[in-house]
Amino acid sequence: MKKIIAANWKMFKTSEETIQTLTELNTLTENIPLDNKEILIFPPFTSLEVAAKIVNNPYIFIGAQDLYPAKEGAFTGEISPTMILACGAKWVLTGHSERRHIIKEDNALVGQKTIFALASGLNVVACIGETLEQREEGNLYDVLAEQLQQTLAKLPTPLSPERLVIAYEPVWAIGTGKTASTEDIIEAHTIIRELLKNILGVSAMQTRILYGGSVKPENAHEILSLDNVDGLLVGGASLKADSFAKIISA
Ligand code: 13P
Repeated sequence: MKKIIAANWKMFKTSEETIQTLTELNTLTENIPLDNKEILIFPPFTSLEVAAKIVNNPYIFIGAQDLYPAKEGAFTGEISPTMILACGAKWVLTGHSERRHIIKEDNALVGQKTIFALASGLNVVACIGETLEQREEGNLYDVLAEQLQQTLAKLPTPLSPERLVIAYEPVWAIGTGKTASTEDIIEAHTIIRELLKNILGVSAMQTRILYGGSVKPENAHEILSLDNVDGLLVGGASLKADSFAKIISA
């Protein structure tokens, strides 16, 4: 299974800044052996097309940060999978905690988006994770189970396992500088693997589970070497090409 190193740029970078960062990344990754990795970059919608054109490394792929689950229609402000694919992007994020908590997306909508994206030909990184309050109340298992079950209900079949990736991002570790401890990560990823076995059967063993939350060049290698960690989803430390290149080579 190839490890995934993914960059979520959130609401950062104009298309000009995208060109600058990805031009640097092209150069910095020239000599990094990447045949065992997949690198995903999730820029804002306005940079998707230019990002897909500028990247010249066959191991780097572009994705969108969100989608609307319809082919087209009167949905002001929304973007469809067809439009994302037409930009040259192959991946999409669903259920990121900032969309769940700031934009108030619920599990049912995250599920609809995940299924529609997969059925439309996009590969998906579906994000799940608990708040500090949910963790402290002892609800880690229930929260992850609920999010996964609703996200993965009614998956299109057959679905090859490399097209669906789960990202575990504890909300309290996102953008806070507080990385989850190795024990926290192992515990959550083990729970997710077990839940995936119930939902997906045998393909659960080939479903990649990424960790996200204050990943930086200094901790990337250690986190990547943990059991059931099949990659990283990086926010702040992915915005500068040199910092992201260090994480890629971790
Ligand atoms: P940070 O790496 O900035 O904590 O963000 C993580 C994240 O939300 C990636 O999707």
